Amino acid sequence: MMRLALSIIVATLSLSIGIYAADKTYEPTWASINSRPLPTWYDQSKFGIFIHWGVYSVPHYGSALPEWYWYNYNNPSEDGGATQRFHNTSFGPNFQYQKFAENFNAYIFDPDQWADLFKKAGAKYVVLTSKHHEGFCLWQSPQSWGWNSVDVGPNKDLVAMVTNSVRKAGLKMGLYHSLYEWYNPIYDADKATGQPPTQSKYVDEIMLPQLYDIIQKYEPSVIWADGDWEQYSAYWKSTEFLAWLYTNSTVKDEIVTNDRWGAECPMKDGGYFTPYDRYNPGKSIGHKWENCYTIGQNWGYNENEPFSGFQSATDIIYQLVSTVSCGGNLLLDVGPTPDGLIPWIMQERLLQIGAWMDVNNAAIYDTIPWRAQNDTAEEQIWYTTNPNTLDVYCISFVWPTNGILSLTQPLASSSTQVFLLGCTPSTACNTLSYTVNKAGSGFSIKLPSLPPTGYPNYAYVFVLKNVK
Ligand SMILES: *[C@@H]1O[C@H](CO)[C@@H](O)[C@H](O)[C@H]1NC(C)=O
Ligand SMILES: *[C@@H]1O[C@H](CO)[C@@H](O)[C@H](O)[C@H]1NC(C)=O
Ligand SMILES: *[C@@H]1O[C@H](CO)[C@@H](O)[C@H](O)[C@H]1NC(C)=O
Repeated sequence: MMRLALSIIVATLSLSIGIYAADKTYEPTWASINSRPLPTWYDQSKFGIFIHWGVYSVPHYGSALPEWYWYNYNNPSEDGGATQRFHNTSFGPNFQYQKFAENFNAYIFDPDQWADLFKKAGAKYVVLTSKHHEGFCLWQSPQSWGWNSVDVGPNKDLVAMVTNSVRKAGLKMGLYHSLYEWYNPIYDADKATGQPPTQSKYVDEIMLPQLYDIIQKYEPSVIWADGDWEQYSAYWKSTEFLAWLYTNSTVKDEIVTNDRWGAECPMKDGGYFTPYDRYNPGKSIGHKWENCYTIGQNWGYNENEPFSGFQSATDIIYQLVSTVSCGGNLLLDVGPTPDGLIPWIMQERLLQIGAWMDVNNAAIYDTIPWRAQNDTAEEQIWYTTNPNTLDVYCISFVWPTNGILSLTQPLASSSTQVFLLGCTPSTACNTLSYTVNKAGSGFSIKLPSLPPTGYPNYAYVFVLKNVK
């Protein structure tokens, strides 16, 4: 009786918690902000597309970090003077960076085509640079008069156009936003008061109004903060913004953010973890994280990127798989040209990933990390599992020539079954035979012998049913 009564109370309690959760009030403290559960859509999505597009796309040059062109020009020690030499030779030393905005023209920009490509790639969300460190806004920000894509350059609200097309394609839309700007005089004035600064004028007059503006105008599903590292979150007033975002904004139930909200925040505060670029810890870390990653070596368009800098489809699928196995999402970047072309090699990579996802996405979407993330010391075999079906997905980047794939982690039961996704004829891949290794140490799958055209591409996904 007691037990029953108690469980009724517990059920009632959790019901009311469930109701109040939607209207929860968050305080401007990290403890309160960090207590917010991550909206479920984000973890289920696994794969997003990052877009770095701005005035830096016009000179599109960089020995490293082309989106840092302006900064590298002014700080030649950053890249051995490469950007300065290129600029002096190509445009002349008197050519001001701001003049590049005139050639940011978006002539062939077709956001529906972009969104269609991202959808074909299998991505579920998109994150666009609304403003990078140069301060140029891709929407008509009143705080950035004359330095935005409506006032100069394309004369278009690029944030609105990408947002509309991405949503029409059924994907979620997110916005990257740089907290700092390299050359904002108000920010410089704040910094001149000391470290930490004794005033946050730039935050009150520029940064926060811009953040409120993009949330209210575009209602994004992601705010991807960056450029935070020079100051602590107290200067940026990050907890005040996030308390409003999570409590009062129209996107309070949907929005996710990362952890770049102040020098002390990464791996600690805000939302999911993105402590540094291309973060991929190789193991499950018990907190949601994201691997922001590039197809080549750059974020913004870089025309002098060597061909060898571009990674193969297998390399990128490896990042996706190892990331998802360890509880992360992959945010894969493209850098469009100033006229709006997504470079063809990037299009090809996205379509290759999409072809793999068409066949194998059950191993990716809606999965969670399994008890072992990888199988071999070479990390060529990764696992995920679906929490509803309890199927385990074994994703192998190797196909041993002896025809035997030996797994040390999953334990077979009498009802274990093994399938291979995406091979033809499919009859060859239904219910593969296996032999149990010595007790308690996994089993070995007998690989099907297929005609050369019959093998799946890039990575092989084995569905393991009823394993422990
Ligand atoms: C570029 O031109 C400026 C102005 O003439 C000069 O100060 C600078 O040294 C030049 N940089 C390089 C790398 O040649
Ligand atoms: C946010 O909502 C809370 C709870 O409804 C309210 O008390 C508070 O005044 C609101 N804050 C702002 C900044 O709108
Ligand atoms: C997974 O890879 C790591 C890093 O190489 C290795 O230390 C670990 O032993 C692997 N896990 C298993 C289960 O083999």
